[in-house]
Amino acid sequence: MKILVIGGGGREHAVIKALKKNNKIEKIYAAPGNGGISSDAECVNIGAKDIDKIVEFAVENKIDYAVVTPDDPLVLGAVDALNAKGIPCFGPSKSAAIIEGSKAFSKELMKKYNIPTATYEIFGDEDKAIEYLKTQKFPIVIKADGLALGKGVIIAKTYAEAIDAVKSMMSDKVFGASGDNVVIEEFLTGPEVSVLAFTDGKTVVPMVSSMDHKRAKDGDEGLNTGGMGTVAPNPYYTEDIARICEEKIFLPTVNAMNAEGRTFKGCLYFGLMITSDGPKVIEYNCRFGDPETQVVLPLLESDLLTVMQAVTEERLSEVEVKFSKKSACCIIMASDGYPSAYGKGYEIDIPSEVESSVYVAGASLKGEKLVTSGGRVLGVTAVENDLQTAISSAYKKVEKISFANAFYRKDIGQRALKALTEDK
Ligand code: AMP
Ligand code: GLY
Repeated sequence: MKILVIGGGGREHAVIKALKKNNKIEKIYAAPGNGGISSDAECVNIGAKDIDKIVEFAVENKIDYAVVTPDDPLVLGAVDALNAKGIPCFGPSKSAAIIEGSKAFSKELMKKYNIPTATYEIFGDEDKAIEYLKTQKFPIVIKADGLALGKGVIIAKTYAEAIDAVKSMMSDKVFGASGDNVVIEEFLTGPEVSVLAFTDGKTVVPMVSSMDHKRAKDGDEGLNTGGMGTVAPNPYYTEDIARICEEKIFLPTVNAMNAEGRTFKGCLYFGLMITSDGPKVIEYNCRFGDPETQVVLPLLESDLLTVMQAVTEERLSEVEVKFSKKSACCIIMASDGYPSAYGKGYEIDIPSEVESSVYVAGASLKGEKLVTSGGRVLGVTAVENDLQTAISSAYKKVEKISFANAFYRKDIGQRALKALTEDK
């Protein structure tokens, strides 16, 4: 079989490494992939959003199955375009990817189908948004409706900050057309849990839960990033919480999408907050999380391709999706300065004994040498019998890897460990 994976980050590297365990696969292509992914797949120089070229490549190279992982191509309709040429894909159609592509859509969906989430209002008019803010309590959360590279959420502590946020999105257009509409919502508190779930529109199979660390610096300080590290499972996701989520959130969401004529097939990401009032949806993503995937897939014991194909063929209920009982920790090694300005082109040294634990996110090849090319450079994962050991093992691996200006958080997993000890 020939597989094409669309995307070029650490998440795609984790997907490719997991797919490679299946010996029916003769060849994996990645578009565009990256310098590190090129040791596991043939990278083709086509951007993930260049759908026409992707389809052309897939047809010419007789691709048997495609996996579309990033949000942009999904929201732009990559799966529909590949399917139209007879190429089966893992990932939702454009009409279902709107669950991530428009926060206004997802909030209306949750309201209509009684799925627990923060209360909110949607505005397409700046003056009305500002008028509304006068009547609200703070902090409050302002979200750009469309995709904004994970940056379109502002938690405003005061009325003045909230007005600035609304103006930056609606008149200054810092997120372009994504800010034409804004969602203003209630500020919730509680631990956050990420749950990725396979679904074929009929069956929902949640994967092992995980915890992201979104802020750049230790102690959850600094700017919001794409994620600086993850652990799985997430200790806040107890069996009781899992049961509530399955009954009140996961199945109702999949059924709601069916009822709207937007059947979702692929990986549906539930960003949850466990509030004192129960679990609530903070956000949906129409794809695998990054860097959640780098801890979730290493714990998957079943064959990923088999599960993905069962999703595509709507027979997910027939396959086993088994996860290990072990724990995983992924540390992101970034270039110092990320998520603001950072340098590029630093040579990366990864000793061969840790290579299999490394998911390359932002690196390119300069001759034979791997050099940094992005803010998040590598994800380094360890899987061990318990969380404490997984954390220390991941850090030991990180210490063996070097590149100039490397930066990583030193406290990944500490909050989860604390939750585990508090439990006892
Ligand atoms: P999102 O891009 O929607 O995941 O939001 C980014 C982050 O903002 C989330 O991971 C939360 O930490 C925070 N956030 C989003 N919505 C809320 C909310 N209603 N209350 C509190 N924090 C929120
Ligand atoms: N790690 C958060 C996300 O993938 O959106």
